[in-house]
Amino acid sequence: MSMDILVGLQWGDEGKGKFIDHICSQYDIVARFNGGANAGHSIYYNGEKVTLKLLPSGVFYPNTMNVIGTGVVVNPIQLQQEIEQLMALDATLALPKRLLLSAKAHLVLPTYAYFDQFYEAHPDYRTIGTTKNGIAPAYAAKILRQNLRVGDIYSAQFTSELQAILARQYRELEQFQCDLPPLKEMEAAYMDGIAFLKTLLITDTELYVNQALNEGKKVLAEGAQATMLDIDHGTYPYVTSSSTVAGGACTGLGVSPKKIGEIFGVTKAYTTRVGEGIFPTELAGAEAEQLRNKGGEFGSNTKRPRRVGWLDLPALKYACMVNGVTQLIVTKGDILSDREEVPVCTHYEVEGKQQAYFSVHQDEETTQAIYQSFEGWTGDFTQIKAENQVPLAYKAYLNFIADTVSVPVTYLSTGPQREEILKLKGN
Ligand code: GDP
Ligand code: IMO
Ligand code: MG
Repeated sequence: MSMDILVGLQWGDEGKGKFIDHICSQYDIVARFNGGANAGHSIYYNGEKVTLKLLPSGVFYPNTMNVIGTGVVVNPIQLQQEIEQLMALDATLALPKRLLLSAKAHLVLPTYAYFDQFYEAHPDYRTIGTTKNGIAPAYAAKILRQNLRVGDIYSAQFTSELQAILARQYRELEQFQCDLPPLKEMEAAYMDGIAFLKTLLITDTELYVNQALNEGKKVLAEGAQATMLDIDHGTYPYVTSSSTVAGGACTGLGVSPKKIGEIFGVTKAYTTRVGEGIFPTELAGAEAEQLRNKGGEFGSNTKRPRRVGWLDLPALKYACMVNGVTQLIVTKGDILSDREEVPVCTHYEVEGKQQAYFSVHQDEETTQAIYQSFEGWTGDFTQIKAENQVPLAYKAYLNFIADTVSVPVTYLSTGPQREEILKLKGN
């Protein structure tokens, strides 16, 4: 059996969580392969909105096993909080038993969020607009080979190694004049988190996932963040620190590229971005505010207002290429409803020349988006229960997207609720 992968195609928050929650009843395992608690995947469960940060989006289906893979960075305190919140919401979710944690996943130490905040605020460093969860310092420490991993918590030296690292980093943070809690307090709270981690199932998740595939089980790899935030293929330096693309699922979970099946790519019908960096189709002023408010475009994780703009097709085409997307899922067309026309960026003008592809050389000053306008659509999307109820003008918009990126649109999300989704026929 092959492993399917789901990735975001823009700058995050495309509605990945909602789609996974919809399809995960078809899967035995949902496995997160990258990122950490910087993610915010919203799912409606019994009518209540829940935002998952570290937990895979298969947690609401009793028969689905959830894996936090090797490519993820784990803050035990945040993981404990998230699990306890979910169990308070519904104890029958029996979460600890349906969650496997990779022994090779790296730990996010309590000092990392302070480094993250320091780099963001200090004028000598770039401001990226991070979520301030300490994600970049964790991946940096991993690459420097100075970090600790989940499996290390069982080692006899773990506490002394942790104490040594924290003491060294604490001194550095003091030199940076960061506002810090006492070291002992930080250490004790973290050790409580480690004690909680020891109650979870920690294992070689590579073995687990590969064995499951060999037994014919269905696995869905869940990407956090999105293609344009990928450390290699995104809009560097305004990116996250992990491999967010489909290839990242292979490295993040230890599954061979030979075993990959479908690659689902999720895109909004427009574009949003949180944090700094190029955004060629960004709207400003009242138009931006109207779209932001209608779309509820405020960070699921940090509550920051999201930057909003029109769909950027050269960027989407690039994302489909980098991931090898086989099925496109389009969300939030309902938010564009009741407009006379809907512009879509088909090209850029870069230094006076037309360009149909997204390039690393582009920057905000020299890139101008060129639009084609589509007839708008009206109607209450909550009433759409069948393909023939999709407004014709929206269908034309979707067909144009599919043709441009050469990938079929197979699902339409028509609202935030679990059941507000349509599988398109012929796919
Ligand atoms: P993720 O990070 O990709 O999982 O996306 P987020 O959960 O951060 O942001 C997507 C937001 O859009 C959430 O508030 C979802 O509940 C909401 N959402 C998802 N699909 C739709 C849709 O088709 N229509 C509307 N109106 N909201 C949607
Ligand atoms: P989901 O999974 C949107 C953005 C941050 C910032 C940059 C780096 O919900 O789509 P980081 O804290 O990762 O070092 O921040 O990446 N970012 C996201 N934007 N959705 C996310 O996750 C994001 N995770 C990180 O805003 O610009
Ligand atoms: Mg999100």
